[in-house]
Amino acid sequence: TFRGQVTLDGPSGTGKSSVARGVAARLGAAYLDTGAMYRAATVAVLDAGVDPADADGVARTVAGARIEVGTDAATETVRVDGVDVAARIRGAEVTRAVSAVSAVPAVRRRLVDQQRALVAAAGTVVVEGRDIGTVVLPDATLKIYLTAAPEARAQRRAAQLGIREQSEIVELAADLRRRDEFDSSRADSPLRPAAEAIVVDSTELDQQGVVDRVVALAESAV
Ligand code: C5P
Repeated sequence: TFRGQVTLDGPSGTGKSSVARGVAARLGAAYLDTGAMYRAATVAVLDAGVDPADADGVARTVAGARIEVGTDAATETVRVDGVDVAARIRGAEVTRAVSAVSAVPAVRRRLVDQQRALVAAAGTVVVEGRDIGTVVLPDATLKIYLTAAPEARAQRRAAQLGIREQSEIVELAADLRRRDEFDSSRADSPLRPAAEAIVVDSTELDQQGVVDRVVALAESAV
């Protein structure tokens, strides 16, 4: 059996969250969605009426917010100051603002500290995000970087949101590209594969295929 940490990084729309949950379930591991933490921080910023582009205001707001996420793969717990925001963090308003909020170094320092504490408490765990293998857990047992062709990612996201209109899918693809460019080019902890990461391309694989591959890698990493 696998013991340790699996990091799962990569751009949006690769099926990362479903894969991470699936892998955690198969390994009997805990699961930490760090994107949910940046999204929760974004809810705090929006609710405070702070402009997401105002880095000082963002840093101050997030420093004063209590952000809680669960580490159980079967249930999603996300709270800001005790209020359940699990549904809201997936909304368009939060998705539009999250990259700006997560580019603020003070926000990252605070959430990375919290992520390391959650991981230490969880033991064997699958952690998904953008900088987990590079920054948060550089000594992780297994590092995976999940990618997929941009069209495949837009199609997947559209299916998730129940969108069929071609023009909306094109818009979605542009949105994914914009967020990934922003995440990859920011100064603090940009999105990129860790040196030792194993790159898994999910373009031609279904979710089960990706889960099988990652579980096999974890089992041979012990
Ligand atoms: O994975 P998800 O789409 O929920 O992440 C939302 C946003 O949070 C990303 O686009 C990125 O800006 C930020 N993020 C980050 N570092 C992480 C996880 C997410 O900067 N480890």
